[in-house]
Amino acid sequence: MRIEAEAVAPANIAVVKYWGKRNKQLNLPLNDSLSITLESLQVRSKVTFDENLNHDEIFVNGERLSDYETREYAGRVLEIIRKLYGKRVFARIESTSNFPSSAGLASSAAGIAALTFASNAALNLGLDDKELSKIARVGSGSACRSMFGGFVRWNKGESDEGDDSFCEQVFGPDHWPNLVDVIGIFKEEKKKVSSRSGMESSVASSSLLKCRLRFVEETFDDIIKAIRDRDVNSFFHLTMRHSNSMHAIILDSWPSMSYLNDKSFVVMDWVHEFGKAAYTFDAGPNPHILVLEENVQEVVNFLEGLGAKVIVSKIGKGPSLVRSET
Ligand code: DP6
Repeated sequence: MRIEAEAVAPANIAVVKYWGKRNKQLNLPLNDSLSITLESLQVRSKVTFDENLNHDEIFVNGERLSDYETREYAGRVLEIIRKLYGKRVFARIESTSNFPSSAGLASSAAGIAALTFASNAALNLGLDDKELSKIARVGSGSACRSMFGGFVRWNKGESDEGDDSFCEQVFGPDHWPNLVDVIGIFKEEKKKVSSRSGMESSVASSSLLKCRLRFVEETFDDIIKAIRDRDVNSFFHLTMRHSNSMHAIILDSWPSMSYLNDKSFVVMDWVHEFGKAAYTFDAGPNPHILVLEENVQEVVNFLEGLGAKVIVSKIGKGPSLVRSET
């Protein structure tokens, strides 16, 4: 037996960040998070379940992933999929991204979302997007938010099994059509500390972590309201506060770390002075600058002046199937 399906899924940028888990195996987070789905950053994954394989193999942009990466990310998704299917059949996955992988641009989130979506179709599991978000979450937390378009909330949930830790769309991709993300890419190298081990270290050592969790709780409804009202000032302000609050925890961890570099700080200063945009950084130095379309060019010029490659992305839709055959 040989069954394949192919899906495309988008990356997402968190405005309220996920940083810290209460369960590592299931990627159950300490706080709710909120992201924007990015139209221009896509990963396409073809999954082939093949009875002749005796292990999973994954190729990203033509390069085979290590056994560790295979097992601990996509492999976790495939284990769940196999249980649901009721047959121990392994898979070959071929993924290509239209942006640099491992530059802190959430290529693994998009890849895992695409894999989960394609597997559901290939094996006819009939799961809805909410169920798929729970499965993608186990592969990599942030991947669960790539299961939907628009503005997406990941509910942390309370249970130890993770059945209430899933994503939902809060507003669709067309809710705020003139809001865009301008991404500057300074570095295309792999990061020194993965998000996974970085957040583990933060949970074990940061004394500010509790304070951040309180901040997230206190401001979550406010940022949702800012998006609902398309209140740019409030949305920009809260987005920057949330990015800084995560990076403060990272600096406060021991041994101390920072994913930002000198250029990131130049960007932050510039955005404050510019006053018509918001920066947010994931676990890497590359800025995402959220801005209204009418002001995009100024941001692009600034980032290019700093030597960055620039990608401009609108808010996008969730995953879709490219082709499914048996
Ligand atoms: C900084 O989802 O990569 O991008 O669940 O261990 O795979 P694992 O971590 P991952 O962490 C993403 C962290 C972040 C913030 C965010 O996307 O919310």
